[in-house]
Amino acid sequence: MNKTLVAPSILSADFANLSSEIAKIEQAGADWVHVDVMDGHFVPNITIGAPVVKSLRQATSLPLDVHLMIENPEKYIKDFAEAGSDIITIHQEAVEDLPSIINKIKAFGVKAGVSIKPNTPPEAVFEVLGIVDMVLVMSVEPGFGGQSFMESSLPKIQALREKAPLLYIEVDGGINPQTAKLVKDAGANVLVAGSSVYNSADIKMAIKSLKNA
Ligand code: DX5
Ligand code: ZN
Repeated sequence: MNKTLVAPSILSADFANLSSEIAKIEQAGADWVHVDVMDGHFVPNITIGAPVVKSLRQATSLPLDVHLMIENPEKYIKDFAEAGSDIITIHQEAVEDLPSIINKIKAFGVKAGVSIKPNTPPEAVFEVLGIVDMVLVMSVEPGFGGQSFMESSLPKIQALREKAPLLYIEVDGGINPQTAKLVKDAGANVLVAGSSVYNSADIKMAIKSLKNA
């Protein structure tokens, strides 16, 4: 399988200094920048929207991996695509017509991902494995950084990897060097990490330990 990519989540960064916070992870070997968008409805927390993504686009050449934890994501695909997202991931639980929104994302020339929460089975996204670029398996309940990894994500990752040998399978929530090893062995190849990267005294080492887990 292709090498493991690391996508630090700026949810754990200092929001008053986003460009230097992104420069830090860029210099430390991050592959993508993971951007958590929350609306206070789909999840209990509120974060940032498309204008911030647009500014981030000016601040980095790394791919922007935009995780939409919002209701009615179809209404906002255009905004996030035009803001400069490279990958837009929507939640299976937030949409009725999954193939249609995925095709809508791809029509903007942006990669499309679909995410499942801890209680959603992998079968819920089997119908779109042929058209998505990535499946994001949540290993915590979405909404907040700094939660503990849920091992129930592991068989879900395995089931998806069996069905889709070449897909990006991303895991998000509670990823540190120990849990990174578990999810990589299960078949994940993109690791999101917020607190374990940004709270580390040595960000370069933190990213390296995830890649080499
Ligand atoms: C949670 C977000 C995550 C979060 C991960 O809803 O989707 O991306 O930033 O944070 P850690 O790595 O601290 O669990
Ligand atoms: Zn996320």
